[in-house]
Amino acid sequence: MVSSAMVPSLNLHQTLFPKCPSPWRNTLFHYTRPAVLHTPFSPSRIHSSSVVAAPEPDVGVHYDRTLELDLLACPICYEPLMRKGPPGLNLPAIYRSGFKCQKCEKTYSSKEVYLDLTVTAGTKDYSEVKPTRTELFRSPLVSFLYERGWRQNFNRSGFPGPDEEFSMAQEYFKPAAGGLLVDVSCGSGLFSRKFAKSGAYSGVIASDFSENMLRQCFDFISKDDALSTISIALVRADISRLPFSSGSVDAVHAGAALHCWPSPSNAVAEISRVLRSGGIFVGTTFLAPSFGNSLPPEILRPLRQTFSRLSNTYNNLTEEEIKDLCTTCGLVNFTSDVRRSFIMFSAQKP
Ligand SMILES: C[S@@+](CC[C@H](N)C(=O)[O-])C[C@H]1O[C@@H](n2cnc3c(N)ncnc32)[C@H](O)[C@@H]1O
Repeated sequence: MVSSAMVPSLNLHQTLFPKCPSPWRNTLFHYTRPAVLHTPFSPSRIHSSSVVAAPEPDVGVHYDRTLELDLLACPICYEPLMRKGPPGLNLPAIYRSGFKCQKCEKTYSSKEVYLDLTVTAGTKDYSEVKPTRTELFRSPLVSFLYERGWRQNFNRSGFPGPDEEFSMAQEYFKPAAGGLLVDVSCGSGLFSRKFAKSGAYSGVIASDFSENMLRQCFDFISKDDALSTISIALVRADISRLPFSSGSVDAVHAGAALHCWPSPSNAVAEISRVLRSGGIFVGTTFLAPSFGNSLPPEILRPLRQTFSRLSNTYNNLTEEEIKDLCTTCGLVNFTSDVRRSFIMFSAQKP
């Protein structure tokens, strides 16, 4: 059921999004391809004017199923969501919209500044605790500190730093230029903002499981004039249950994230599912510590995995494990760049 609270007044909109133009003025999630494209495949195209009539919900609220939003899907059924509200995947338009699964009829709406598309969205009594590596980043303090010192520490392990990581990722993403990029586990949106500002994508979705990271992300976006007219959306999602239709995404970025995921295999399987044919996955993570040739890999690997399971710490994998993981999830053309404990890897949906 969509309540009037889901459709805030223009005044509230202006308070929340002082730098975002009214969604009624700028609602298009631009899916025009850049003039020059060297792509071996066609990026996701959205026909923003096409509207498919949806079955009339019994609550008397009219939901539209726009082709534009075939992208957003119910995390339970994976069916595209119907939408009530202004079109477009920019922050104010999403904030003013209610969403409903055309199959199970579960409704989803924006919580404060992000659209909550987790399975538990809207639950009142049920809650569950994820592994520490997920819960840690839900803390307001960690989310606040993340871009204010926390992330800079990654340099000690070989991470080249956001600017260089961004340029490296852009190289890998060249075949997806002009398409839709989802920055999963985006944290406070360090890279989502860079991707959005690059102008290389028709739209960017910044997605994370942490409510506080998404709030930080919103703060950074709303203070940045360069982002006020750019198509960028904030979606709360669990990496193991991505709320996007299969084959709907051109590029998935996951910076410094794989080691934090509760199940890297479920996560990469989901990334593979949502990528369209030819779509690119680029990730970075901390590699498992190398013990040189002190023990053979067939002994070292189970030892490390047992330790990781028992300690409930991060899931640090080796380069070979990451390649194997991508391959087993149906991705091809694995490439990587390793610098001490840092790895940037890419793989492609065939
Ligand atoms: C180290 S931060 C990386 C942030 C950013 N991408 C970067 O490159 O700095 C890891 C992120 O993974 C997210 N994360 C952990 N578990 C997750 C899950 N189950 N689903 C989605 N994101 C998750 C955390 O909330 C956190 O923001």
